[in-house]
Amino acid sequence: MSSSDPNDIEEVDQVKRAFLQKTSVFLGAVGAAGIAVPLVSYLSPNKSTQEAGKPIKVDISSMQFGEQKTVLWRSKPVWIIRRSEAMLASLNMTTGWLKDPDSSVGQQPDYAQNQTRSVRPDILVLLGICTHLGCSPTYRPEPKSVDDSWEGGFYCSCHGSKFDLAGRVFKNMPAPINLEVPPYHFQDGNTLVIGE
Ligand code: FES
Repeated sequence: MSSSDPNDIEEVDQVKRAFLQKTSVFLGAVGAAGIAVPLVSYLSPNKSTQEAGKPIKVDISSMQFGEQKTVLWRSKPVWIIRRSEAMLASLNMTTGWLKDPDSSVGQQPDYAQNQTRSVRPDILVLLGICTHLGCSPTYRPEPKSVDDSWEGGFYCSCHGSKFDLAGRVFKNMPAPINLEVPPYHFQDGNTLVIGE
């Protein structure tokens, strides 16, 4: 039986140590990458999420008086309504019956805090979600179509809230505040941009 040279043993130990060090550094890097990849993908919004948050453009060139369009913005319904002169005149008749006729609660951008709650009087833009518990009210523009004093507006059949043709809520309704006006502007006379 031959005895081992102590120098050989020392050399083997050094080779083993170097191998183990390299292996543990490699495994550590793999583990870190395994954690980092899901974290990065979680923090970066995916393409559809980015798309959903983008402003949307709507062509309103063919809209007739009284017509309503509904589009989705950030997965929420947004109504666009072209109001006639008669519809705008109805806003003078509802004032005394409203909870917040001057829209003092911040349910609209500053540029829409006026009687028509809009940039252009004829074009109304509203989030189609009731401020009570989130149902979607229906558009009822015809006078007397909900009750005898009805001048036209939006009616939420879930619990009976009524809103006028500017989305202002009537007194003694379950909905506490007016319907929300989202941010928007006109790119030109025929194009509405919602979300900016
Ligand atoms: S959710 Fe509209 S009245 Fe209750």
